[in-house]
Amino acid sequence: MPKLAIIARSGAETVVDGETGLSVMEIIRDAGLDELQALCGGSCSCATCHIFVDPAHFGRLPAPSADENDLLDSSSHRAATSRLSCQIAFTADLDGLRVTIAPED
Ligand code: FES
Repeated sequence: MPKLAIIARSGAETVVDGETGLSVMEIIRDAGLDELQALCGGSCSCATCHIFVDPAHFGRLPAPSADENDLLDSSSHRAATSRLSCQIAFTADLDGLRVTIAPED
């Protein structure tokens, strides 16, 4: 199964098997990292699933939708590699992806 590396706000890194077909948000949640709130459940309306993608991996992802981009603008922590984890479908091609949970807004 492809791996996803998740870096918590504390800096602790957890590597999990990522089930393809789930979103990165769902994999993080299922790994028990409840600091990723994901309040809207993945419907791209809350931005509490904000992550930073490792810069070396950012180009592996499809571009964000206009809605995701707009919602990311609402975060005061938006960075060049910000994404909403609920909007990233995890696939075998993303094996080894590394993401960091963004600070809470
Ligand atoms: S869970 Fe709400 S925008 Fe991703």
